[in-house]
Amino acid sequence: MKKRVMCVFGTRPEGVKLAPVVHAIKQSKHLEAIVTLTAQHREMLDQMLAWFSIKPDHDLDLMRPRQTLAELTARVLTAMDKLLLKTQPDLLVVQGDTATVMTASLAAFYHKIPVGHVEAGLRTNDRYNPFPEEMARRQTSRIASLHFAPTKLAVQNLASEGITENVILTGNTVIDAVLDTANRLKPKDIDHKLFGKINFEKYRVLLVTAHRRENWGAGIADIAEALRRITDQFPDTQVLYPIHKNPVVRETVEPIFAGHDRLILVEPLDYVPFVYAMQKSFLILTDSGGVQEEAPTLKKPVLVMRTNTERPEAVETGAAKLIGINQDNIVIETVKLLSDKKEYERMISTVNPYGDGHAAERIVQAIEEYLLVKQPSVLSV
Ligand code: UD1
Ligand code: UDP
Repeated sequence: MKKRVMCVFGTRPEGVKLAPVVHAIKQSKHLEAIVTLTAQHREMLDQMLAWFSIKPDHDLDLMRPRQTLAELTARVLTAMDKLLLKTQPDLLVVQGDTATVMTASLAAFYHKIPVGHVEAGLRTNDRYNPFPEEMARRQTSRIASLHFAPTKLAVQNLASEGITENVILTGNTVIDAVLDTANRLKPKDIDHKLFGKINFEKYRVLLVTAHRRENWGAGIADIAEALRRITDQFPDTQVLYPIHKNPVVRETVEPIFAGHDRLILVEPLDYVPFVYAMQKSFLILTDSGGVQEEAPTLKKPVLVMRTNTERPEAVETGAAKLIGINQDNIVIETVKLLSDKKEYERMISTVNPYGDGHAAERIVQAIEEYLLVKQPSVLSV
C-alpha cells in the first residue's frame, strides 16, 4: 500500500515552492499525495493552483481580513487537529516559515505524525527579524523529523543547533518552480493590462515587492519615498509595484505613489505574469524571501530592502545586495545600478547558489527512504 504524504500550505510562496514537491510525490510508485490548503491566503494562493495543476483534497479556508497572528494560529491548530485525526497521514510536509508551517507542524506533533520540512535551516539569528518567521522556522526545525535544506549554509545552521539526523541537501524547490514556469510561459499569452501603464520597451522598469511585518509603517513608507525620488531623478524609469493584498501595506504606499504617472501600483500579479515581469524588468527591489532566490535564477540584479537576510548566499556571490530600509541608502544603491553598467553586469554574471531545478526529486527520494526503509515509528528524536 502507498504511504500517504500530506502536503499542507497556506500562502502564495508556500504554494509556489510546494507545487514541485506535490508533483514529484504524484509520480512516485510508493507515495500518495494529499493536498491540504489552510488558505491562510485566499486569492494570492488560489491563483497559482491552476498554473501548477494542483487540486486540493482539503481546503480549510481559514483566511480572515486583517487576521492577527494569534487568531490565525488558533484557527490553523484547531482545523489541522480535526483533519489529522480523521486522515492520519504517514507524513506531513510543510515548506518555509509561515504561521501555517509552524502550526500545522505542531498539530502533527500532537498526533505523533512525523513532519518533513522543506527549506529547512534558514536563519538570521535575530528573533524579531524577520518577524515572526525566524521563530516559526526554528520551532518547525525542533518538531521536524526530516529536514530538506536548500543550501550548505542551511545544513550548517541546523548542525549548529544539534540537528544532524535526516538532514538532506536538496537545493530550493523555488528554482524547480521558476524554471518550469519560465519554460512553459508564452509571452504572447500575457495580458499586458495587468501591468497598468508599464511599458517595458520604453522604460527601465524597477520591479518592487515589499510586505514584511518588520517593515510595516515607517519602513514601507521610506521604501515608497525612495522610489518616488529615484523615478523623479531618472525620467527613463518606471516602478512596477504589485502590492500585497494585506491592507496595512496598501494604506502606507498608496498616498506616497498618488499622482505620479511612472509609479505604478497594481494588484498582486499571478505567478506567470510576475515571472514575466521579473524577466522584463531592469532590476528588482524586494523584501521578499522567494524573490531573492528567483532573481539570480533569471539573471536580474536584486536589491534586498531588509536589515538582514536568511539568504546570504546570493549576497556572497554578488547577485544580490543587502541595502537596508534607509531611504537615502535605497536611493544611493539603486542610482548606482542605474548609472554603472559595469556594476550591473557584475551582478548578473554570477552563479545561482539556490539550486539546479531538481530539488523536488531529491526530497521525494528522501521521503521514500524515510517511510519505506527507515520505519519512522522506531526512530529516535
Ligand atoms: C504571510 C506570512 C509571511 C509571508 C507572506 C507571503 C505569516 C505570519 N506571515 O504574511 O511569512 O512572507 O504571507 O506573502 O505567516 N490577504 C488577502 N488576500 C490574500 C492574502 C492576504 O486579503 O490572498 C490579506 C488579509 O487581510 C489577511 C492579510 O492580508 O488577513 C494578512 O495575511 P497573513 O497571511 O496573515 O500575513 P502576510 O502579511 O500575508
Ligand atoms: N509573487 C507573485 N506575484 C507577485 C509577487 C510575488 O507571484 O505579485 C511570487 C514570487 O515570484 C515568489 C513568491 O510570490 O515566488 C514570493 O512570495 P512573497 O514575497 O509574498 O513571500 P515571501 O517569499 O517573502 O515569504
